[in-house]
Amino acid sequence: MIGPIEVTIIWQVVNHGIDLSILESIEKVAKEFFMLPLEEKKKYALAPGTIQGYGQAFVLSEDQKLDWCNMFALGVVPNFIRSPMLWPTNPENFSESVEVYSTEVRKLCQNLLKYIAMSLGLNGDVFEKMFGEAVQALRMNYYPPCPRPDLVLGLSPHSDGSALTVLQQGKGNSVGLQILKDDRWVPVKPIPNALVINIGDTIEVLTNGKYKSVEHRAVAHKEKDRLSIVTFYAPSYEIEVGPMAELVDENNPCNYRRYNHGGYSKHYVTNKLQGKKTLEFAKIQTKSQTT
Ligand code: OGA
Ligand code: NI
Repeated sequence: MIGPIEVTIIWQVVNHGIDLSILESIEKVAKEFFMLPLEEKKKYALAPGTIQGYGQAFVLSEDQKLDWCNMFALGVVPNFIRSPMLWPTNPENFSESVEVYSTEVRKLCQNLLKYIAMSLGLNGDVFEKMFGEAVQALRMNYYPPCPRPDLVLGLSPHSDGSALTVLQQGKGNSVGLQILKDDRWVPVKPIPNALVINIGDTIEVLTNGKYKSVEHRAVAHKEKDRLSIVTFYAPSYEIEVGPMAELVDENNPCNYRRYNHGGYSKHYVTNKLQGKKTLEFAKIQTKSQTT
């Protein structure tokens, strides 16, 4: 199969093979968690300078305009990234649902990466071999109704730093997720029981830009709340990331430098969400930029 020339893609998988009861269960516990009294949720508060727990990530200054969103984030795999103190005991089956869901989504990511590799004429297992023990994190986003959706965003424009992102939109969600396509924001209409798949920055770099990460955002809604459950799947922090040799030749010059993935992750989470700006970290500086 001949691979794509250069594509920015986001797609929704329907035949993902994950049992509906698993999708329903994660949605249920996420909703229950966000509906708990603030006092209860605060037990799992995101500490300043960290990225796991309940609160708002990507807040870097006091005068920053905040997104209209509450987040709850957990590191899931490998074990050493877990903060067990932050795993809620209420709702009772929260942790169990996260475990079951994450195991299934992990398999889906591995499968999707296999097909992405094959679409580029590479061996199906290249990413799995390269990634080591892949890092997997879960973020639940809850967007309350917003009296002035014209003044604030649900989530600012960004691309994900991951290799792949799997996003589950809550049942009955209003349209909130949008992607930037040809300089216009296009809504991603929820398809019942489908999962939205995003290409993240890491796949853009590894494929030397053959697959481009998707710039996206979430808008707030005046009357309806909205829930999303997002899995980020990325290589192990130790590995070095850079365009794969098979995808670089005289017609396809190398567009990105090589760097340590842990370094990129750190750079990503310590910067504001600002379109695809964080990817500049990986871009090769041209002469005009360095002089
Ligand atoms: C994210 C994200 C969009 C949404 O969490 O990275 O893009 O619809 N979420 O919640
Ligand atoms: Ni995102």
